[in-house]
Amino acid sequence: THYSLSSRSSVVDTPPWPEPETTTETRFPTGFVWGAGTAAFQVEGATRTDGRGVSIWDTFTAEPGRIQGGDTGDPAADHYRLFHEDVALIRSMGIGHYRFSLAWPRIQPTGSGPENAAGLDFYDRLVDELLAAGIRPWPTLYHWDLPQPLEDAGGWPARDTALRFAEYAAIAHRRLGDRVDTWCTLNEPWVAAFLGYASGQHAPGRQEPAASLAAAHHLLLGHGLAATALREQGAPTVGITLNAQPIRPNSGTVADIDAARQVDGMRNRIFLDPLFEGRYPGDIRADLAEISDFGFVRDGDLATIAAPLDFLGINYYSPAWVAGSAEGVEPALLEPDGAGTAYVGCGDIAMLRGTEIRTDQDWAVDPSGLTELLVRLAVDYPEVPLYVTECGASYRDEVSTDGAVHDPDRLEFLAGHVRATHAALAAGAPIKGFFVWTLLDNFEWAYGYSERFGIVYVNYETQTRTVKDSGRWYGELAATGSLPP
Ligand code: NOJ
Repeated sequence: THYSLSSRSSVVDTPPWPEPETTTETRFPTGFVWGAGTAAFQVEGATRTDGRGVSIWDTFTAEPGRIQGGDTGDPAADHYRLFHEDVALIRSMGIGHYRFSLAWPRIQPTGSGPENAAGLDFYDRLVDELLAAGIRPWPTLYHWDLPQPLEDAGGWPARDTALRFAEYAAIAHRRLGDRVDTWCTLNEPWVAAFLGYASGQHAPGRQEPAASLAAAHHLLLGHGLAATALREQGAPTVGITLNAQPIRPNSGTVADIDAARQVDGMRNRIFLDPLFEGRYPGDIRADLAEISDFGFVRDGDLATIAAPLDFLGINYYSPAWVAGSAEGVEPALLEPDGAGTAYVGCGDIAMLRGTEIRTDQDWAVDPSGLTELLVRLAVDYPEVPLYVTECGASYRDEVSTDGAVHDPDRLEFLAGHVRATHAALAAGAPIKGFFVWTLLDNFEWAYGYSERFGIVYVNYETQTRTVKDSGRWYGELAATGSLPP
């Protein structure tokens, strides 16, 4: 085995991941899924329309200093009103699969109790429109927009939120389940739990380490209860999306390797092990002993969480490099302050920048991490079908004088990561599809509208869309399933 601590760790001695083939055509199997994704709060806008309730992101964006430029969920890409045009756009680009999220506060404005017919109607029309255009819908039930009344009652650290989530899932499925067969419960519970309740960089902006662990557990429990409810109602395909990440130690010292183990535990295994093995990792529980006794775990929870999954979605942007401490590390090589604050219980660790190739958002570019991650998941949790549910990059795009948006860096980023996905597939990882993040430029959370991840450019003043060069290229890839050398 390549794994130096145990087969359950991503800590590697030497790169075990296969290199992508760049001298020949990269050809994907027939039936490989090519899609594009969005999320409700990031694109819909219309935050007060048709009875939508208030979410934690409405509250958070209204607080001064939380979001770059003071941006809010309006107007976003005004997708709530322009969805018809956007579906036509997806179709014209030749993309056959669309990943989007349902806004809980549109469907159940207070997070419990009666459903809002107008909110359900919107997703009903969206699904019909997609199917009529020959595009398969891939809804996610939770992409971070918790109804504010549930946060007022304690949020994800409160067990009741998990129960409410399962009710909401059942409502959504009752309305859409006759036409939607693939359901994703949660998007990136790590972000919801640890940026929301530990570092406070995301809504609701709380900095409560112990509560963030309860949040993580209740997100997992909500996933398990929702998955059970969906299956009882006949949903054939249910999965979850994680932002699992390869964690690379800065050196072979005991301190650096142990820091990587801890971060891997708090980023990856704290979700993967309950989902696939019905238990929390023992090393992590021991590390966290002074912060939490995990008293929030009740009998039966882990069995609920570990109910079989039909797929695991992975969102990948970059690996992380960690050191046991910042001592001796040149300051220029460190990630800016705060990068490690989400890693509850990991002590005095340092996060490093890792690569010199960066996106305009200053994120490391390293496609090999995607191959490494996919191969590792296939080894550690065999036979679970894998999808890359997000991969993409932010660059400062502009419409040029010829009316086009030339984004060679994004195109190269995507080509590299598509090849990295193929390398993992060729090595035997059961990868079934790839969804680019994202269809449209949109509200990039704490960064507001300053970061553009789209393969389609959005002018927020006029709401005109311009397909970027990367979008044309991606449509071609989706149509042919093949990349020239
Ligand atoms: C992951 C999230 O799911 C998505 O909402 C976000 O925009 C991208 N990463 C980029 O940060």
